[in-house]
Amino acid sequence: MKLWMLFGALAVAFPTLPAEINRNKNRGRGSMWWGIAKAGEPNNLPPVSPAAPHMDPAVHATLRRKQRRLARENPGVLNAVARGANQAIVECQHQFRNRRWNCSTKNFLRGKNLFGKIVDKGCRETAFIYAITSAAVTHSIARVCSEGSIQSCSCDYTHQSRAPSDVRDWEWGGCSDNIGYGFKFSREFVDTGERGRNLREKMNLHNNEAGRAHVSSEMRKECKCHGMSGSCTVKTCWMRLPNFRVVGDNLKDRFDGASRVMVSNSDRIRGNSNMITSNSASNSVHGHREGPGRKHRYNFQLKPYNPDHKSPGAKDLVYLEPSPAFCEKNPKLGILGTHGRQCNDTSIGVDGCDLMCCGRGYKTQEVVVVERCACTFHWCCKVKCKLCKTKKTIHTCL
Ligand SMILES: *[C@@H]1O[C@H](CO)[C@@H](O)[C@H](O)[C@H]1NC(C)=O
Ligand SMILES: *[C@@H]1O[C@H](CO)[C@@H](O)[C@H](O)[C@H]1NC(C)=O
Repeated sequence: MKLWMLFGALAVAFPTLPAEINRNKNRGRGSMWWGIAKAGEPNNLPPVSPAAPHMDPAVHATLRRKQRRLARENPGVLNAVARGANQAIVECQHQFRNRRWNCSTKNFLRGKNLFGKIVDKGCRETAFIYAITSAAVTHSIARVCSEGSIQSCSCDYTHQSRAPSDVRDWEWGGCSDNIGYGFKFSREFVDTGERGRNLREKMNLHNNEAGRAHVSSEMRKECKCHGMSGSCTVKTCWMRLPNFRVVGDNLKDRFDGASRVMVSNSDRIRGNSNMITSNSASNSVHGHREGPGRKHRYNFQLKPYNPDHKSPGAKDLVYLEPSPAFCEKNPKLGILGTHGRQCNDTSIGVDGCDLMCCGRGYKTQEVVVVERCACTFHWCCKVKCKLCKTKKTIHTCL
C-alpha cells in the first residue's frame, strides 16, 4: 500500500475548476456507443438481432453518423463492438470491485451515459473508462478478424521475419490476431467526435490511445511444433492477443499512477507513439476517409500539471481534475456513495473499512451463506456438489 493512495482516496473535489474544464461539460455524443453493451437487456434498447444489429434503429440512435457508416460498411463489427463494450464493463468492475467507485453502470436510456455522470468530470476514473473501452474494442475486433466473422478483415498474414531462413529455427505461419486492423478500427470508431480541439478532447484521445497501446504491446508470439512425433523439425509461429485481464491489470496500474495534465503552449509533435499500426497493415477499415487535419489529431503532448513531474508517456493515463471523494450519494455527479458497501476490517487499503466507509464507521453481522461444496466428479461428465451452510462475518459501511 503506497501512502499516496491513501491520500488519493481521501481527496475531496476541487471547489473551483479551471474554466476550460467547465466549458467542456458538453462533450458531445462521442461516448454514447458504450450503451450498445446493454442493447437487448430489459429496460434498455429493444432486442438486437445478432445477425444484423446494425439494422436496429435504437442501436443506430446511440451511434454517430460516422460510426453508423463504419458499421454499415464493415458488416459484423457491431457485434464485436458490443462484445468489447461488455468485456470492458466486466473488467472495469473487476478491477474496481474493492474501491469506493466500483464502476457501476446504469440501465441504458437514450441520451444518458452508460457509466453515468462521472464521465462529465475529467478525473482518473473517467480516464480509466475511456482507456478500457477503447482497449476492449481493439481487442475484440482484432480477435473477431482472426475468427473470420468480419468480412473486411482476416487473420494478419503480414508478419515477415528479417533474419535469413537458415538462421531461424521457426517460420511465421498460422493465423495471427489482427491487431493492426483492431487498432485502426478502434481509432476510427471509438475516437469519433474527439477532435482534440480542447483539453478534455485531448484527454479522451490520449487515454483512448493508451488503451490501444496496452493491447498492442502485450501481443505475444505463440508457436507450434510440427514433424514426426513432436520432433519440432518445423516450427510455425503467429501473434496472439493477450488475455484481456492482463490489459485490465496494466491499465489499473496506470490508473494508480495517472498523470494530471494541463494545456501545453506548443502542441509539439509527439515522438514515436504511432508506430504500432505501421507493421501490420493487412485489410483496411472500409469507410475510413482521410480528412484534413486528421493525421495531426494524435500529435500533441500534454504537459504535467506539476512541473516537477515528467510528461505523460503514450501508455500513461491522464486526467485533468481530482476525483470526487465518492463517499456520499450525489445524483448530480452520478455518485452512489458507500453506505451499505462491504468492507474489510483488517485491511488498511482502499477496501478497508476506514477508507471505504469514509470514517463513518461500519456494522458487523454474522450471516449464513449457502455455497456449493464437497464437489465430486462423476464419470462421465458430471460434477455433484453438496450445499453447505457456513457462517461468515461481514462488515458493511454505515
Ligand atoms: C457498487 O456499489 C453500489 C453501492 O455504492 C452497489 O449498489 C452496486 O451493486 C455496486 N456495483 C457493483 C458492480 O459492484
Ligand atoms: C482483508 O484484508 C486482509 C489484509 O489486507 C487480507 O489478508 C484478507 O484476505 C482480506 N479479507 C477479505 C475477505 O478480503
